[in-house]
Amino acid sequence: MRRRASQEMAAMMIPNLLILFSVVTSSMVMRVSGFTTTTTTRIMELHHDVEEQQNQYRRNLLANGLGSTPPMGWSSWNHFACKIDEKMIKETADALVSTGLSKLGYTYVNIDDCWAELARDSKGSLVPKKSTFPSGIKALADYVHSKGLKLGIYSDAGYFTCSKQMPGSLGHEEHDAKTFASWGIDYLKYDNCFNDGSKPTVRYPVMTRALMKAGRPIFFSLCEWGDLHPALWGAKLGNSWRTTNDITDTWESMISRADMNEVYAEYARPGDPDMLEVGNGGMTKDEYIVHFSIWAISKAPLILGCDVRNLTKDTKDIIANKEVIDVNQDPLGVQAKKVRMEGDIEIWAGPLSGYRVVVVLLNRGPWRYTITANWDDIGIPLETVVEARDLWEHKTLKNRFVGNITATVNPHACKMYVLKPIS
Ligand SMILES: *[C@@H]1O[C@H](CO)[C@@H](O)[C@H](O)[C@H]1NC(C)=O
Ligand SMILES: *[C@@H]1O[C@H](CO)[C@@H](O)[C@H](O)[C@H]1NC(C)=O
Repeated sequence: MRRRASQEMAAMMIPNLLILFSVVTSSMVMRVSGFTTTTTTRIMELHHDVEEQQNQYRRNLLANGLGSTPPMGWSSWNHFACKIDEKMIKETADALVSTGLSKLGYTYVNIDDCWAELARDSKGSLVPKKSTFPSGIKALADYVHSKGLKLGIYSDAGYFTCSKQMPGSLGHEEHDAKTFASWGIDYLKYDNCFNDGSKPTVRYPVMTRALMKAGRPIFFSLCEWGDLHPALWGAKLGNSWRTTNDITDTWESMISRADMNEVYAEYARPGDPDMLEVGNGGMTKDEYIVHFSIWAISKAPLILGCDVRNLTKDTKDIIANKEVIDVNQDPLGVQAKKVRMEGDIEIWAGPLSGYRVVVVLLNRGPWRYTITANWDDIGIPLETVVEARDLWEHKTLKNRFVGNITATVNPHACKMYVLKPIS
């Protein structure tokens, strides 16, 4: 998704040198070492890639202009599940502003499942649940918009949503899209429960077309759980696509979703490994730092899933790390990938704008390890001298590095550096 738009931007903006650099950084995939006679071929391939991406953008049914960088915000599901009401949604909007999180880019306030009555009204419209959303969704959208934020909502490409407490939109797509637009909705997460057994590629485009006709740009978040490899077709239908089943607040769940999402890095269409669990209490601080770092370099949506009205200092320090957010929102929009794996040790890397490279040294095991990332693995020409910025220590290291960078990493922890060539 974002890759397409940002590739276009990159294609327009980047000088030839950066293209050369991108070619070298793609040595992660192609194992090209240095500038050789194959460089011209690589540049032609790169141009072809960019053209192909542009064609795909043109073929996108949902040309709503949204999602050129990963969306950021909050969703009610991970922390509250069905225990939601208009008061806590308003308090959350207030908290996003008062904590400064909205200034950092967290602007979507997304209501997840359980917001509607089980029965539609006599006109066939979805009805906000009277006991929990008595003022209605339009009033809530007005409130959220008055704070400079955006309101998201949830439905399902089936007969019921996953809670089975409200109807899905299957067969009512145009009607519901119009309702959402009339309320001032900005984002739709579209789930996959209780469907009719037809393929997601049959059911999801109906909502895509309905949203296009609804007269309001609405970010379309496909959530078919990675059922039918949505990385292969999601770009044509939506602004983001879940590549995994639901996340839970444990290390195993989080890291396995990172793995599932990484598989699709080759397609250069960053997917959605699900919303963040940071701040929900099931992982250690180091584990949450790994969670946030990998979501950031994977160019995944940064949708908070904790209670932002009641943040601990540790949680705030993680989700408000502007340097890590900047990596996520980098205009080049290229998803990082695992470039080396050895037992419990992994090195993830990806190119950033301005000739830079982001690298994460990840320790998945129970013991401390010393981890080294070599330039030829992470796409930096061998002789290049770099300056390293530690994004969690908020320090530029005094040493300059040539050929590799090494750090000792605790169990279930990571180091995250942005490497900037200086000569
Ligand atoms: C706020 O967070 C603390 C610790 O994270 C927790 O003990 C407390 O119950 C929370 N308060 C509310 C109102 O949720
Ligand atoms: C890292 O690079 C330095 C030279 O800059 C070299 O002396 C050292 O052996 C390298 N370390 C590893 C583990 O490759």
